[in-house]
Amino acid sequence: MGIVFNEDSLSFKLDTDNTSYVIGIADEEKFIGHCYYGARVSDDDLTYMLRTAEAPFVPSKNARERGSFFDLFPVEYPGNGLGDYREGAVEVRCPNQSRAVNFTYKGHNIYAGKKALPGLPATFGSENECQSLELYAEDSVLGLEATLVYSVFEKEDVITRSVSVTNRNSEPIHLTKVMSASVDMDDEDYQMISLHGSWARERQIEYRPVAYGRQNAASFKGESSHQEHPFIALASKDIAQDYGKVYAFHFVYSGNFLAQVEKGQFDTVRVIMGIHPYGFDWKLDKDECFTVPEVVMTFSDTGLGTMTRNLHDLYRNHLIRSPYKDRKRPILINNWEATYFDFNTEKLLDIAREAKKCGIEMLVMDDGWFGHRNDDSTSLGDWKVNEEKLPGGLPYLVSEVNKIGLKFGIWFEPEMISPESDLYREHSDWAISIPGREATRSRNQLVLDLSNPEVVDYVYEAVASVLRSANIEYVKWDMNRQLTDLHSNYLPDDRQGELYHRYVLAVYELQERLTKEFPELLLENCSGGGARFDPGMLYYSPQIWCSDDTDAIERLKIQEGTALIYPLSAMGAHVSDCPNHTVGRVTPFETRGNVALCGTFGYELDITKIPESDRAQIPAQVAAYHKYNDLVRNGDYYRIASYSENKIYDCYGVVAKDKSEALIIYVSVLNRPNFHSRRICVPGLDAKKRYRVEGTDQVFYGDTLMNAGLIILNLWGDFQSKLIHLVGED
Ligand code: GLA
Repeated sequence: MGIVFNEDSLSFKLDTDNTSYVIGIADEEKFIGHCYYGARVSDDDLTYMLRTAEAPFVPSKNARERGSFFDLFPVEYPGNGLGDYREGAVEVRCPNQSRAVNFTYKGHNIYAGKKALPGLPATFGSENECQSLELYAEDSVLGLEATLVYSVFEKEDVITRSVSVTNRNSEPIHLTKVMSASVDMDDEDYQMISLHGSWARERQIEYRPVAYGRQNAASFKGESSHQEHPFIALASKDIAQDYGKVYAFHFVYSGNFLAQVEKGQFDTVRVIMGIHPYGFDWKLDKDECFTVPEVVMTFSDTGLGTMTRNLHDLYRNHLIRSPYKDRKRPILINNWEATYFDFNTEKLLDIAREAKKCGIEMLVMDDGWFGHRNDDSTSLGDWKVNEEKLPGGLPYLVSEVNKIGLKFGIWFEPEMISPESDLYREHSDWAISIPGREATRSRNQLVLDLSNPEVVDYVYEAVASVLRSANIEYVKWDMNRQLTDLHSNYLPDDRQGELYHRYVLAVYELQERLTKEFPELLLENCSGGGARFDPGMLYYSPQIWCSDDTDAIERLKIQEGTALIYPLSAMGAHVSDCPNHTVGRVTPFETRGNVALCGTFGYELDITKIPESDRAQIPAQVAAYHKYNDLVRNGDYYRIASYSENKIYDCYGVVAKDKSEALIIYVSVLNRPNFHSRRICVPGLDAKKRYRVEGTDQVFYGDTLMNAGLIILNLWGDFQSKLIHLVGED
């Protein structure tokens, strides 16, 4: 059992295979304290770590120093307004406008398995795979109850957390902040790791020292965003792939978030993660309950690589639900970079015919198939086929594509409304906008008010009726602008502060309904590239479009940051044409294929127009995908070298769980004159097993490959790459 309650010390120990997390109840007032998180330890009772014996901090014995107590005590779920001046996890607005809140222990329950979170994506596991602890807490002055929920995934070394708050007061109480997790620790000279970015430059890895004060990653954009990511880690200064300590925190949510580290006066750090309090005000009437999204935590003292593999395993086994998570995805060709808005049935069928010859398996029709949409100024919301472009509509197009032997997929941007649309002419009040103020347009469009159930139903039917009309097997669900002008024409004044979160809940509801009605549908989320690449979305779609930047070299950095915390099976990656549409770079077709191979793999080009020499390489790339995809989807990922760090070359690999084979991808960026060959050590192999370097007569023991390594000769030219397949011999 991963969770033990020690009755004598009133403490809870949550053990995974390699980590321990200990909570202790302190003092007569039953404060809930955080004793320890880190490498696995043997003792149950770690309440001495709460340091309540250090006079004069015991509050019931020395009321004079109560404030000092609150400001130092390592608290499990910090309240607000009573003396703890560090960032609190929860804040309220009471009928008398007071803001203070403090939760103390009332009881607990430990059980096998894990409950779902109502309306929210969350990790799941059977009774054999995880255990849960519910800590019941209350603020008896307010009549507010909180349940702190912890689940322990022993094998993956992961602990998840969530909280629900219930109002037992006859008066409404407003929650103005409810974070999902807070962890207090002594600072060990940590650095903070986060992922920053921009459109076409998502999830670049950043390290910064933890300094006094608060440093955070956050989004107020209504989505997880291109710019910041709902992930932070605290790592020791010496962190490397296979060395050093790291605590990772990842938020299973797709809206505004705050992920923060605060270093305080006593050299302690507090990590806090949850929905950003900006613009958040949730009214709780009597007996209403608010549940926050989940935070995933993992600790490793064997480097970043272990953190990465823990998260990959957790997401593959306990978050992604789609039946496709265990399947090879059809190799698709998407017409966005091929045609943009300029296409018709004939053009699509030409692409499909040529694609079929090369072994591609699905055609995806991107933006521009509906209403009068010939550019991005119009028609979002009018999800009716443009018969001028597609005579005979979807039934004809899809059946022709199927006859060619390809599956068919389609693009939607369901959450949006163009002011130039029939929908807007009929329902301008359905757009998020502030009365009397002209709403800010972005990409010429506005966002639908998904807090309104009538709008949600409209959106659902619009998408579902298209899917019912033809044999459509894939949907790319896009979201091409962030939220502004926050105001709902539907919500009452005292619930306007609920709009951001209700919006996200409605997106989840829509995707839940969609995947229920169409269980075999392959759903790919997307947001102007990778602005909604987050664990919340993974619960609904097994893959997410990584970035609008399809340049193989830019992708090295984007995919490195993404793979730091997400399984390769989730990373949407395509081969596109050159000069690349985002950066104008020309790279070899082979390298574009090799870089896309460790993602979902597909094409995003006009296959009828690319050079014959490129097209001729597609069948071999398709064959490589079929050969390696089981390994890529299921194996253990190892980062071997990082181009973003060394500025010269990139190298990563995937080793089968049973260590029977490994695939190494090596990309040399700019070639250098007078350059020596390079030595690459391959981690994760079976030391005593012999591996053949496929295509050569070289055979080495795993320990040789892991320690002495392989020699890679200089590759001639810029942007060259190489695949190395190591095949274990019996
Ligand atoms: C977003 C997506 C692209 C494409 C366009 C269509 O930018 O990321 O892949 O679908 O929208 O408008």
